[in-house]
Amino acid sequence: MQDKVAFVGFYESNHISPVSQDIVDLNKHFQRRESLFRSLGLLPAFIAGKSVLEFGPGSGHNALYMASLKPGRYELVDGNPKGVQETRERLAAYSDSQVEVHQSLFEEFQTDAQFDLVWAEGCLPHQSEPLPLLDHISLFVARGGDMWSPQPMEFPTSLKLCVVCSGIVFLLPLETFISRRNN
Ligand SMILES: C[S@@+](CC[C@H](N)C(=O)[O-])C[C@H]1O[C@@H](n2cnc3c(N)ncnc32)[C@H](O)[C@@H]1O
Repeated sequence: MQDKVAFVGFYESNHISPVSQDIVDLNKHFQRRESLFRSLGLLPAFIAGKSVLEFGPGSGHNALYMASLKPGRYELVDGNPKGVQETRERLAAYSDSQVEVHQSLFEEFQTDAQFDLVWAEGCLPHQSEPLPLLDHISLFVARGGDMWSPQPMEFPTSLKLCVVCSGIVFLLPLETFISRRNN
């Protein structure tokens, strides 16, 4: 485990996941997720049949919504074994779609595939080098695809903040996006 992601090592050695949500009322949970997607300009119907790569699903609560939108391929990456296990268990309900949860540090994740949507929600706090990390994960965006990384409001950053909406700050590291889209 690299020093720069020591907090992921902390989760692993203590067998914990930092994420817990009350999703007993799944309809309400899905409504909240839909509101987030729409406020980003991301139509839920866009996801059907598309390929999605998600970094840092935590324990998979929010991933349930993404899976419910029926992406054609859905891969997820998290470095915390407990979170990976809980995400796999939650997503087992969607075994009809192509879902794969990888246990890997973001920095070490490699695949030849590229994805229509790369999603990395709440993954930047505590990262010692958020911009190189965003640059790495943007490598997996397919031509014409998109990457979104919504972060909690309190996340301090020198990145360019573009939109503040519903308590969530949407970060656009413009250089990264522009260079990736022009490649
Ligand atoms: C705050 S949680 C966000 C969970 C979920 N996306 C959400 O919004 O509820 C961040 C997740 O990213 C994972 N993570 C953070 N940095 C990582 C890294 N460098 N490599 C692998 N996993 C990492 C953590 O294990 C954790 O599950």
